[in-house]
Formats: sequence, structure tokens, C-alpha cells
Amino acid sequence: MSTAVACELTIPEAPSEELRRRAWEAREALGDQLIVLGHHYQKDEVIEFADVTGDSFKLAKLGAEAEAELVLFLGVYFMAESADVLARPGQTVVLPDLSAGCHLAECADIYTVRDAWEQISGALPGKRIIPLTYMNSDAVLKAFCGENGGAVCTSGNARTVFEWALAEGDAIFFFPDEHLGRNIACDMGFEDASLPVWNPRLAELGGARRELLADAPVILWKGFCNVHTNFTAEQVKRHREDHPGVRVIVHPECPRPTVLAADESGSTEYIIRRCNELPAGSTISIGTDLNLVYRLRDAHPAKTIFPMLDTICPCVTMNRIDLPKLTGCLEALESGGLPNVVSVDEEVAEWARVALDRMLALG
Ligand code: 13P
Ligand code: SF4
Repeated sequence: MSTAVACELTIPEAPSEELRRRAWEAREALGDQLIVLGHHYQKDEVIEFADVTGDSFKLAKLGAEAEAELVLFLGVYFMAESADVLARPGQTVVLPDLSAGCHLAECADIYTVRDAWEQISGALPGKRIIPLTYMNSDAVLKAFCGENGGAVCTSGNARTVFEWALAEGDAIFFFPDEHLGRNIACDMGFEDASLPVWNPRLAELGGARRELLADAPVILWKGFCNVHTNFTAEQVKRHREDHPGVRVIVHPECPRPTVLAADESGSTEYIIRRCNELPAGSTISIGTDLNLVYRLRDAHPAKTIFPMLDTICPCVTMNRIDLPKLTGCLEALESGGLPNVVSVDEEVAEWARVALDRMLALG
């Protein structure tokens, strides 16, 4: 592929069956040159092309180990960026739609995080604060953590990374997901009331009280996922009344009261594992993206699986990856083109790699 050149993505227009046939032809012609990594929230029409599926942690790990020179990511931008940061020299990462972002990731940017960091450092002299960013964040925020002694975490390993950080320093500054941060900190035994929330829209110490900051084990960032904040403790209560014996499983991006009302919470990979483990005849209500929940329902006809709420949209940015764009990417790659390359600036990538490698080393 050394002769491959960057190109525009042409999105073919054809009936789905024809696109599917063309996409498979191109995929097969590319053989081992290409690996397709698919996140569990992707649509059925594209996930069937994934060589491996996973949560953010599994995909980051698999991407880092992949031999193929081309990595096609079925997921959102921050995942493709992380794959590029961890890629070997000569590997290229492609995302079928470069506008497939993440609402949560956009809740924090480097300017407001740097400003918060300076204010927190000034307010807590002598304290070692460890910055941690959720995987759902820009590469530049991962780089910020790498450069300042911190790391990245995902929903699958957040507790391990939090424990590491508190062994390294006096407190954690976690962004951008307030809810995941609170769920992990409370599960570790910290009082909810001891966790200040930094609101980047409030100039003076992000609206946090100085005395609360001084003793805080974890400083949270006011950011949230617009899918997972739709799930409420009230819905869990109603489900229990309507479906006695129901097992409620939610993603830890849900607010704390929802997680407390549920029976268990975990990453997308965890949710899939639990649906496999629970016995036939189980009734399971799931609080996460609809594409995944409906796939689990179809995969387990002997269990009753349904979404906690079916009136919301699936994650709109995950859904931007569709069969026409995937077909266009595969056909361009097959003819030696490189459409929609995700390439992180090398200076940023160097420090982002430090933060991602710290996470990967923790397992
Ligand atoms: P997972 O790492 O659990 O797959 O979560 C990613 C995500 O974006 C959840 O909204
Ligand atoms: Fe981001 Fe939420 Fe979509 Fe996950 S579900 S990719 S956190 S917007």
C-alpha cells in the first residue's frame, strides 16, 4: 500500500443488497491488508463487516496489536483517533464519516480544561493532582493527561485507573463525564457530597467551593452523554412493577440514581457478557444504546430482553456510519485510495500515547 494516496470519499447510491455485495467484494479483495474494528453501538448493516467487535477498551487494545496496514474503524471519532495514536508506523486509520463525533467528548476542550487545571493547581498548593480523561475525549486532552502524569480510562477499566491514580497522587481531576466519575468514586467508597463538580461555564473555581476542593478525592467535570442521561431511577422502578423479577443492567454513563436503582452496571462488553450468562427465561432491561439492545434481544430468543426506554434515538453520531459510506470507503481502499484518514498531529500523539499506554499497562 505504499503507493496509496489520500482521496475524497465518494458515497455510492444503490439498493442495499447491491451495496452489501459490493462492500463484501471489496472487503474480500483487501484481505489481510485491512482490519475492521466495530464498536457495539454500530448499526447491523455495518457491524457484519467487523473482524472484531468490542467496547472502547477492547478496541483500543486490539487496534494497538493489529498487524494490518489499514484499520477501518466502525465507531466514532475519538475511537479512531486513539487507534491512530496507538498505530504502528505505516498503519493508516480510516473512519467512514469524519463527522461521527461524540456528544460527551465535546463537553470538554483543551482551553477550559487547561484553565481549570491552572485554577485547581493554584487553589491546592502542594497537592499532587492526577488528571484522568475518559476515552470519550479529544486526543489533545489525552495528551494533556500524558504530559501531566495522568492517564486515560474507559468504562471497562475506570476503577482500576482511579485506584492507580489515587496511589500516585492526592486527588483525581476527571473529565469529561461527571456521571461515570461519580459512579466510580462512590463505588470506591467516597461520599457523593465529597465530590465537587467543575462547571467550565462558571469562571470562579468552576463553581466549586474552595473548602470542598481542598479535601476532594475526585474533582468531576460537568459533562454528560445525551443518550445515557435519558435513563432514570423512576423508569427502573416502573420496570420492576411491570416486570417482576426483571434484571436491570445499565451503562455507567447513566446518572448515579439510575445506577443505584439498577441491579448492575458496566461497559458494553460487560452488558453483552451478562446477557450471555443470565439463564434462559430471564427478563432483562438494558439502559444503553438501542442498536446494541435490539441486537442482544435478537441474539437471545430464549430470554426477554428490552430497552429501558424505546422512545429515544440511538446514538446519532454512531449512526452516521452506514452501509453506503462503508462501501465507498472499502471500494476506495481496494483501488489504492485513502479516504477519510484520521491522523493525529505527531506532537499531540506522542503525549496521548503516554496516557493510553499507562491505561493499557494497567490492563
Ligand atoms: P464502552 O467503552 O462501554 O463501549 O462505551 C463507549 C461509549 O461511548 C458508551 O456510550
Ligand atoms: Fe458518545 Fe454517548 Fe454516543 Fe457513547 S452513546 S458515543 S458517550 S454520545
